[in-house]
Amino acid sequence: MIFKLVYGEPDVISEAVISEKKIVVLEPNEKGLYKIEGIFEDKSLIINNNEDEIILKRKINGKKAFGFGDKVGPFNRWGKKYVFWNTDNFIHHPNSDPLYKSFPFFIVVGDNIKYGIFIDYPGYLEIDLDSYGIREMEIKIRGKGFVQYVITGTKLKEILSQYLYLTGKNVAFPKWAFGYQQSRWSYFTEKEVLEVAKKFRTKKIPCDVIWLDIDYMDQYKVFTWDKNRFKNYSKMLEKLHKDGFKVSAIIDPGVKVEEGYEVFEEGKNRYFLKDNEGKDFEGAVWPGRVRFPDFKERKVRRWWGKKVRKMYEEGIDGFWNDMNEISIFATEKDIKEAQNLVKDLKLEEGINLAIKAGVIGEIGRRGRGEEIVHLDGTKHYKVKNTYGLNMLRASYEGLEKNKRKLLITRSAYSGVQRYGGVWTGDNHSWWEHIYLEMSRLMSLGLVGVFYNGCDVGGFGGDVTAELLVRFMQFGSFIPMFRNHSAIGTRKQEPWMFGRKYEKILKQIIEYRYKLIPYIYTEYMFGILKNIPLLTPMFFHFEKDEKTFSIDDQFMFGRSVIVAPVYKPGQESRMVYLPKRSLDLNKLEFLKKGWHEVEAPLSKIPHFLVDGSMLPMQEVMSYVDERVSDITVIVSAYNDRAIGYYYEDDGQTNNYKKGMYNLYKIVYDSGKVSVIKIRENYLHAKRTWNLKIYTRTGLKELQVEI
Ligand code: GLC
Repeated sequence: MIFKLVYGEPDVISEAVISEKKIVVLEPNEKGLYKIEGIFEDKSLIINNNEDEIILKRKINGKKAFGFGDKVGPFNRWGKKYVFWNTDNFIHHPNSDPLYKSFPFFIVVGDNIKYGIFIDYPGYLEIDLDSYGIREMEIKIRGKGFVQYVITGTKLKEILSQYLYLTGKNVAFPKWAFGYQQSRWSYFTEKEVLEVAKKFRTKKIPCDVIWLDIDYMDQYKVFTWDKNRFKNYSKMLEKLHKDGFKVSAIIDPGVKVEEGYEVFEEGKNRYFLKDNEGKDFEGAVWPGRVRFPDFKERKVRRWWGKKVRKMYEEGIDGFWNDMNEISIFATEKDIKEAQNLVKDLKLEEGINLAIKAGVIGEIGRRGRGEEIVHLDGTKHYKVKNTYGLNMLRASYEGLEKNKRKLLITRSAYSGVQRYGGVWTGDNHSWWEHIYLEMSRLMSLGLVGVFYNGCDVGGFGGDVTAELLVRFMQFGSFIPMFRNHSAIGTRKQEPWMFGRKYEKILKQIIEYRYKLIPYIYTEYMFGILKNIPLLTPMFFHFEKDEKTFSIDDQFMFGRSVIVAPVYKPGQESRMVYLPKRSLDLNKLEFLKKGWHEVEAPLSKIPHFLVDGSMLPMQEVMSYVDERVSDITVIVSAYNDRAIGYYYEDDGQTNNYKKGMYNLYKIVYDSGKVSVIKIRENYLHAKRTWNLKIYTRTGLKELQVEI
């Protein structure tokens, strides 16, 4: 059940909600307050029209809440205050909040109750989840009103599914987007790009995607190529495609102010955000002085979308939407103020200066948004959090509809899953960040963004060989497996740390490719049924109370439990199994409960839940290289198991018309039967080899499909 509660008088349109059918609209009491029996009771509502501020206080019971997407801090969100104000916050300390995205959706897990709350407000928002421990929640916005949806259900899957009914189903990514991806800020020349690509093929390390960071552009001018360093970019793209690579390029929203530059000339006084005087607003980002498209406007999205499409037609397969919080290093006003301050500098002013000069990025700039106005007159601070969503939407809308793409964005708001996926921005090559990324990615799944990832290896700082191995092991069990690092840091391609480590890293990537049939089955099954690919364990084992306190293990698909090593020098770790499972390193069964498992450097603990199956294939250079026979690992302690296998063309949206195969494989006491749930996609006949692990030993069977 979804309830809608309105507070104050909302004056901005939600970009998140797409369907309000089947929703129960509740009526407030004369004070504008609500009570939902057994769930919560509002205490007070303060509407301060002068300050454009609303504060709601409520009595709430609970001690566990999960969600909010990729925020830092504890995985259980209870007991803390969170700010939703999309910010280019590039140091992810335990207290770094806000970050790039806003997903004001969380699920409260109480003793006998579970429900979801979605505060739909795209401007400045704070949610305090009982940080004083007095059973009080506080919601604060800068604006005239907001909408709240309360989603009830008996199971977590049901709550998430209803949230996705409200905000939209996930768009499907191409199958190749699950292959390994190599990035760096930057590969500076086409020669360097081709060399990196060639290394993957000659060293026989699988790889599907090469990423181009800002330096492919001419002076960071969006939709251009540097004429010297990427003189023959068409040839480069052709060569990469021929060798089985896809290419993904960064696009930033800031359009360089430069007479004669086509994108600027077309956009000026027409498509850009305004300042308070009605002139195009200007800020400084990579290219220097820039203006920002108003993606909230359909005509602007159309204009931008055509440019993206042109790049796509030239051979770019994926688009990486960055700096769209909006990240602004400084404005002219900031600089002038800073200049005034320097003359007679006092301590407080020095702090101000640091903030204004962008030393701490956008963090201090709560005011940013006051000075920006949208083309329809909306003040930017009321819709700031949807800027990135609409930028991604512009690319999505501009591209061919039936072809799947790799579209990701750094800044996002609820509903972003309709257009693409996300990565978690500028993490660091810190051990702590493997741990942190686990909870960020699990939380992204819980807010309905199924294609997600982080900079594997770490973006900032210098990675070490051991950290890279552990990061890559973790990265090989997340939806987007992309190694990316910042300019000036130690390079972290798989061959950068000598033969011993290259061998281990190659094996990690190869194993990812073996898992592709399982990963793709689980991903597409999730797309059809609203189940995230990467989830906390409790998502599939919610009856087991213990799973709710585990934040350093997760599930990849419905059947594999992953327990990464995230501390240096560690060669074993504790693992909790909510059900008997097959240790996939040792191929031995472990029963439900806690275990200390071995984890030598070359191994990541991971387990196949008993009663399920893991379809695997041969190693390939890239995902679509060829059709392979399938080997299915069957975890059948009691001689019984059920598995699934999904396939389609991996490239189009024809799955929506039912053009796919979904097989249910049932193994029982020496016999296997294949149930064809759907068989609408032609494929070459192939052999499946079943390796069945039972309590009495290994059995092997073959089936032709
Ligand atoms: C931002 C992005 C990062 C990118 C860099 C240069 O920091 O988050 O991924 O490499 O800009 O474009």
